[in-house]
This record gives sequence, structure tokens and C-alpha cells, in this order.
Amino acid sequence: MAAKLIKGTEIREQILEEITAEVAEIKEKHGVVPGLVTILVGENPASISYVTLKIKTAHRVGFNEIQDSQSEDLSEEALLGLIDKYNNDDAINGILVQLPLPKHIDDKKVLNAIDPDKDVDGFHPVNVGRLMIGGDEVKFPPCTPAGIQEMIVRAGVETSGAEVVVVGRSNIVGKPIANMMLQKGPGANSTVTIVHTRTQDLAAHCKRADILIVAAGVPGLVKPEWIKPGSCVIDVGVNRVGEKISEKTGKKIAILSGDVDFDAAKEIAGYITPVPGGVGPMTITMLMKNTLKSLKFKLGIA
Ligand code: GUN
Repeated sequence: MAAKLIKGTEIREQILEEITAEVAEIKEKHGVVPGLVTILVGENPASISYVTLKIKTAHRVGFNEIQDSQSEDLSEEALLGLIDKYNNDDAINGILVQLPLPKHIDDKKVLNAIDPDKDVDGFHPVNVGRLMIGGDEVKFPPCTPAGIQEMIVRAGVETSGAEVVVVGRSNIVGKPIANMMLQKGPGANSTVTIVHTRTQDLAAHCKRADILIVAAGVPGLVKPEWIKPGSCVIDVGVNRVGEKISEKTGKKIAILSGDVDFDAAKEIAGYITPVPGGVGPMTITMLMKNTLKSLKFKLGIA
């Protein structure tokens, strides 16, 4: 194998240790810990498993975590009322409404109701605008793109002047990571191209990427011959391509595959993220970082 593996599972451990130490220090100096509320509406199994992991991680780093689980038939008005309550709760620094929401609730209305200074997902238009301006304006970068940037930096990959090609233009990954990589500053200063379903020659763009970030949701979309030798390949795809029985638990679990043909790509790239165990673990880690940051802004120590 030519490529160095960038393991999200290892980087997660380093960052969570850093956060735990910082939380303990703030608790000692200021007598407070970050407060995070996770609002889950309904019983979508994937959402339950994400929320369970968020809660477990929040406890691990010493946060005060409130889990607010609501039934599927909660009205939009009642959900907006809950958000208002947490917006005005001094002990809460981060509010996370797990998506997707039931169909009768307008997600946009709900996300826009969260106080931008407690929007640790970074989805509120104010935070999207802050991200676009860059520099000191940025409060809460969205978690998956923040995780991607952190992985690139911690792997020691040069970003300044690098050709970054982002495959996918979603609001959650493609657009924000492209914006972050082109900003002035460390871990950025790149020349960025976004390609998508209407791009005419996807292969030609990918082939010149020093850093290729793929968030298309199409298993095996990126072919090995599209990868520039020695480049850094970040695979954000999490595609369920089958099921298997877990050796650990004996339960049925999904077989996951990325958007890149990993086995072939790892022989060409210089750095590559695996699926699972690559970008995935970074999202919740960065949520913890944003929640800690929210408290630090409030205390004037960020
Ligand atoms: N559902 C899947 N991923 C996410 C996420 O990052 N944040 C929220 N709020 N919901 C999600």
C-alpha cells in the first residue's frame, strides 16, 4: 500500500483528550462546564444511534448533556417553543436538533429559530455567512467540514497553493468545505474547484487534485485512474452497500462503502481516509469542539 491512512478514529481520540483537559481546566477556573442539548423528534433508528453516540461522547468529555426526546407527532409550534426555552437557558451552550425531522415540520424554520450563538451544528444562515467571511468572524464551522480540515492539517498535508477539488455541492459538506479551504489562513489558502452532477468532465478535474474531497453519496464514483499519484484523498461517502453479522455483538450491521474505490486508490494516493473509520468519527468530535467553543465565547476566553 502506497498511501498513508488518515484514521479518524485516532484523531478523534487526540481531540477528545484535548477537549476533556480543557473542560476540566475551565471547570476549575470558572466553575462551569459546557451544556449541550440534543433534541430528537421521533424514532428514526439512524438518528437514535447518532444521538446516542453524541450523548456518550458529551459525557466522556465532561459536558452537561440533556437529551430531549420527543414523540413523532410533536407539532412544529411545540418544537419552536422548546428551542425558545433552550435559547434562553443560560446553562445551555449548544442546541442540536437531530435531522431529519418528521415531514410535518419545516426544518428550515426550526434551524433558523436556534440562537446563532448556540448553533453548534453551524447550520444557521448567520453562521453560514460568518463562515463565508472567514477569519475571526467564524464561530461554528459545520462539523463534518471542520473534521475534514482538521484531518488534512493533522496529517501534515500542505494546503497552501494546493489544488483542492470537492466532489459534491451540498450545504452540509461540499459548499462549506470548499469555502473553508479557500480562506486565508493555516490549513487553507488553497485553489478550489467544486464539481457536481452537471460537471462535464469529472475525471479531468479530479486528476489535477492535490487534495480530493469526495462527498457525492455514490459508491465507487471516483475511479483509481482519476487520482493524482501522491495526492490526499478524503472520502466523505458513507454508503450502505449490504449487511453482515457483527463479530462483536452478533447483530446485523450495515456494510459501509465510500465514494472512492478504496482498495485501488490506496495504491496511488499519498494519503487516504478509510470508510468506515475515516471522516465519520470526526463529525461528533467537532460538535464537541464547537460546544466547548460556545462556552469559551460566553466566558470571553475563546
Ligand atoms: N443528521 C445527520 N447528521 C447530522 C448532523 O450533523 N447534525 C444534525 N443536527 N443532524 C444530523
